[in-house]
Amino acid sequence: MTVSWPLPLVQAPMAGGASGPELAAAVSDAGGLGFLAAGYQTAAATAADITALRGRTDRPFGVNLFVPGETSEAVVTDELPAYRTRLAADADRYGVALGDVPAHGIDDDWNAKVALLLDDPVPVVSFTFGCPAPDLLAAFRDRGTLTAVTVTAPYEAGLAAAAGADLLVVQGTEAGAHQGRWDNTGPIGEPYGLLTLLALVRELTGLPLIATGGLMTGAQVRAVLAAGAVAAQLGTAFLRCPESGAPAAHKAALADPRFGETRLTRAFSGRPARGLVNAFVEAHSAEAPAAYPEVHYATAPIRRAAAAADDPAAMALWAGQGWRLARAEPAADVVARVTADLG
Ligand SMILES: Cc1cc2nc3c(=O)[nH]c(=O)nc-3n(C[C@H](O)[C@H](O)[C@H](O)COP(=O)(O)O)c2cc1C
Repeated sequence: MTVSWPLPLVQAPMAGGASGPELAAAVSDAGGLGFLAAGYQTAAATAADITALRGRTDRPFGVNLFVPGETSEAVVTDELPAYRTRLAADADRYGVALGDVPAHGIDDDWNAKVALLLDDPVPVVSFTFGCPAPDLLAAFRDRGTLTAVTVTAPYEAGLAAAAGADLLVVQGTEAGAHQGRWDNTGPIGEPYGLLTLLALVRELTGLPLIATGGLMTGAQVRAVLAAGAVAAQLGTAFLRCPESGAPAAHKAALADPRFGETRLTRAFSGRPARGLVNAFVEAHSAEAPAAYPEVHYATAPIRRAAAAADDPAAMALWAGQGWRLARAEPAADVVARVTADLG
């Protein structure tokens, strides 16, 4: 690897505002690898984030992209309209209209973001929801950018290795927010737990592995390093930090004893994602179709209105299974705490 950073710790990219330049800079300055999340944003907004981050730190950092996929025609025509009808009462309650997919949202502005990152290379680029073609991964490598592909199953790891990824982000079911699985059809099922998946992927490839999902403590970080990972990627552990851009009601919910568990649900976005169980999750999980990004944009105004009203009932309260261990402390303290005693 040509890019390196002092500690075996990666701050997970968190789309939706949590991991902006402030959080990424704090983590990179503390010796981890900070990450910007480009998902849902335009390429122009991503360029502005990169400029802002470079203004805050000269340490290495990463940028995460969502690989575009397609919703099946049958889901769009048969299941999506029924789900929008179902959501109408929530929209009324918050005084908003359901949203539609904006022009940049159809493919998440993929071509423009790829052009931006090839034109003005960054140290690391990671991919979620799929794997770029081999020639694109090679183009990043030619520019000195390390590529990391998120995998949630052994078959994805095999394909990502064959495509030429430099690193794999091995994501267990414990992870907060979206499962990075490539195929969004079929039931949510039973995704792999992190330690099992790490062992299976290690058997398949000698690529360096970044472990992610439910990691909150130094003991867990040591465990995944012992299991063969080169680094641990933590998301939920940073959500309550002052540098995190997560909404105040999301931060508060993570410390609220009234929330009892997390669940994987398609209710907010149409893709399986893990969050605290609230009224919205209870009401809609069983009916939510595999329509991504259509459901994400349909529910966005409801989620925004709920966040503005400090009402966690209809917010996507993304959280990994270890959420109760998230602390409200500076990001540098999280980095120091989970990397102490690495020996
Ligand atoms: C609020 C939030 C947003 C996330 N957004 C992204 C994203 O944009 N891209 C991505 O690859 N992973 C995203 N993830 C998943 C993380 O990369 C990582 O797999 C996850 O946070 C690990 O589990 P943990 O939250 O228990 O640490 C997100 C996670 C959270 C909590």
